[in-house]
Amino acid sequence: RMSAHGPQEPPHLPALPLIGSLLSLRSPHPPHVLFKELQQKYGQTYSLMLGSHCVIVVNQHTHAKEVLLKKGKIFAGRPRTVTTDILTRDGRDIAFGDYSAAWRFHRKIVHGALCMFGEGSASIEKIIHAQAGSLCSVLSEAAAAGLALDLSPELTRAVTNVVCSLCFSSSYSRGDEEFEDMLRYSQGIVDTVAKDSLVDIFPWLQIFPNADLRLLKQCVSIRDKLLQKKYDEHKADYSDQVQRDLLDALLRAKRSADNNNTAEISAESVGLSEDHLLMTVGDIFGAGVETTTTVLKWAIAYILHHPQVQRRIQEELDRKVGGDRPPQLSDRGSLPYLEATIREVLRIRPVAPLLIPHVALSDTSIGPFTVRKGTRVVINLWSLHHDEKEWKDPELFDPARFLNSEGTGVRVPSSSYLPFGVGVRVCLGEALAKMELFLFLSWILQRFSLSVPTGHSLPSLQGKFGVVLQPARYKVTATPRAGWESGHVSI
Ligand code: HEM
Repeated sequence: RMSAHGPQEPPHLPALPLIGSLLSLRSPHPPHVLFKELQQKYGQTYSLMLGSHCVIVVNQHTHAKEVLLKKGKIFAGRPRTVTTDILTRDGRDIAFGDYSAAWRFHRKIVHGALCMFGEGSASIEKIIHAQAGSLCSVLSEAAAAGLALDLSPELTRAVTNVVCSLCFSSSYSRGDEEFEDMLRYSQGIVDTVAKDSLVDIFPWLQIFPNADLRLLKQCVSIRDKLLQKKYDEHKADYSDQVQRDLLDALLRAKRSADNNNTAEISAESVGLSEDHLLMTVGDIFGAGVETTTTVLKWAIAYILHHPQVQRRIQEELDRKVGGDRPPQLSDRGSLPYLEATIREVLRIRPVAPLLIPHVALSDTSIGPFTVRKGTRVVINLWSLHHDEKEWKDPELFDPARFLNSEGTGVRVPSSSYLPFGVGVRVCLGEALAKMELFLFLSWILQRFSLSVPTGHSLPSLQGKFGVVLQPARYKVTATPRAGWESGHVSI
């Protein structure tokens, strides 16, 4: 299909046959797997019509990097959908905001605020330690009672509390009413948005039912009341002297924009209106909780399947950290096997296998193919992470891929690896997510050995595609390791 005669159209799937064959398949395949398979017939980069939208699917890393990095600004648009407009007050957030000067400024402020709490600073680490400690207490109690545990709600609470502490300096204990509300509306949002994005990808799944839209609006309105309450509280006792959390940092940026208010530079125009601040905090919950929790669930599922990986992580922890103190961020460099395990989990089960769709903001090209303004581009991370040319036995879980030859440090063995994306739209929470993954897993595995409860089978590694790629529910038995039987938690 390659030709030396200048730009050409990408191979195009015939619209009706695709829909026809999918209908007859009743797709046992989630979209990322299907898109990977279609390469065999259409090549690595091809286009298709979904409803009235032209979508280009990219399945290979050089084209992916051309889109995300080399032509990052050209492909920095986002499609607008009914649900994301409801969710983000027409894109006044970061994840679904269209690329513009206001968006860039807004993203820069939030990035700066996150960095302040980021690596090197003590507060984010303290926040995660507190949650890791409380998670370990729950595991101890379950162990003492001889109970098998579904870790999902516990991990969700821990990760939500990290984000709550970071954004509002508040956290919740088990059973707290406001917290239960938050979990309920988050789930409602996740469920409906997942359906809509599937409708967007698979129009033949029928029109988005109005009942779902009603539910989404209800959930968003509960979320917004809570965000507004936190915002009003923060505004009431805001001080330029102390910066308690992310919301304070955003308020400070907004106040300075407001003080400089001229006709051209208003808070709205630089992305710092009240709506922007509220939607950004909403984004951090939306993008930061489900993703991180899901990676933790995948990590534990794979550890249950590979007890030798768990043993090796624990040996490393025993040698480098010991049993007298909990692991801390400064141990990251000396725990390469744990680090490699986290990387392998992010490779084999990327939680955002199609990233978030990008949109071409002007006429451009990908490789030899012409791309018209407004075309949606889906980067199939699943294909990149399972490319047989780049990864030996891609379905094999093998953390050692990410170790250097001496096993003393980590490496990235292929450029076909982008768990957080790359370029202008790279994940804003990458550093935070990595800190959480490292600390939660190291705390748990220092103290407990995890196993499949008697009478249960190993968790499925299949994965269900929605907003994120989810493992099926499973339970674990946590057995305290030598020295941790009393369940005491020292921080
Ligand atoms: C975007 C992955 C955790 C905030 C993204 C994207 C990916 C991703 C693949 C899309 C990149 C693109 O469209 O090109 C992950 C993974 C996480 C994680 C694997 C956990 C392990 C977080 C956390 C936060 C966060 C904790 C909270 C601060 C965001 C935001 C965006 C984003 C705001 C949108 C960026 C933009 O459109 O400019 N993430 N993420 N993520 N993520 Fe994450």
